[in-house]
Amino acid sequence: LREHEEFTKVKNIAKIELGRYEIDTWYFSPFPPEYNDSVKLYFCEFCLNFMKRKEQLQRHMRKCDLKHPPGDEIYRNGTLSMFEVDGKKNKVYGQNLCYLAKLFLDHKTLYYDVDLFLFYILCECDDRGCHMVGYFSKEKHSEESYNLACILTLPPYQRKGYGKFLIAFSYELSKKEGKVGTPERPLSDLGLLSYRGYWTRVLLEILKKHKSNISIKELSDMTAIKADDILSTLQSLDLIQYRKGQHAICADPKVLDRHLKAAGRGGLEVDVSKLIWTPYK
Ligand code: ACO
Ligand code: ZN
Repeated sequence: LREHEEFTKVKNIAKIELGRYEIDTWYFSPFPPEYNDSVKLYFCEFCLNFMKRKEQLQRHMRKCDLKHPPGDEIYRNGTLSMFEVDGKKNKVYGQNLCYLAKLFLDHKTLYYDVDLFLFYILCECDDRGCHMVGYFSKEKHSEESYNLACILTLPPYQRKGYGKFLIAFSYELSKKEGKVGTPERPLSDLGLLSYRGYWTRVLLEILKKHKSNISIKELSDMTAIKADDILSTLQSLDLIQYRKGQHAICADPKVLDRHLKAAGRGGLEVDVSKLIWTPYK
């Protein structure tokens, strides 16, 4: 019931200012009541504090000394950076990020108990600082082997491959943990499209090399993608046959090439040699 009420609430904040962008919002987000009569909110792009008036933001920017997200920079490749923020150590930042993200996420109950989450913030860096383009959150301990809770690319940066970068990054973390992972359900339409695209490309590229001589278990070990997701992806591509009650992958090279062409671009690559990270303990 609580969820239903949240979904049916009307959109409150129509737009936000963040860094050099003014962004139209998509959905309702449960900002504290005193913000609900504003059409537009002004965010500090570094600490994510939000304000009702432009002058407040200008005053804030003169004294806010952050030039990147709080937490540790765990990846840097050229101008792209990833920061890991512990929701317990940076509670206000985590909460601000959740308020912001909910403006673009529909079928998600956000957990405001940010203590239990790590946030991975993707930034484009220049001489003015590291500007957030998107993020994903991850439970510190997941019973259901979720390796990602919520993912967002901010609208001005969408459709440039950042989403697939974030997805790839979440699987690289799972590989380092020696675990398989899967995104928390439900997925949005855009979330499913992005995941399907990522899974398809990763699996087809391996199948091209190994022909049919590989099992779903082996694919899962190599990619950290959960076996169910591998099966559903290959089924949707019509690459699974049942033989004697068993799943068998049939990987005709011509069929693989056709699917690969249709799978779209690969997204921005994660260079694992630039990831400096140890799993959360
Ligand atoms: N129309 C059609 N297809 C799209 C669109 C679109 N507007 N946007 C993305 N896609 C598909 C495409 O297949 C695209 O691949 P392609 O460009 O090679 O064809 C693929 O998704 C991924 O594109 P990226 O550029 O890598 O992803 P992007 O940076 O746009 O981020 C994301 C994808 C994160 C899902 C973004 O759309 C978003 O933030 N949406 C709002 C929040 C959301 O729905 N998050 C997922 C919720 S589910 C969860 O959190 C577990
Ligand atoms: Zn600030």
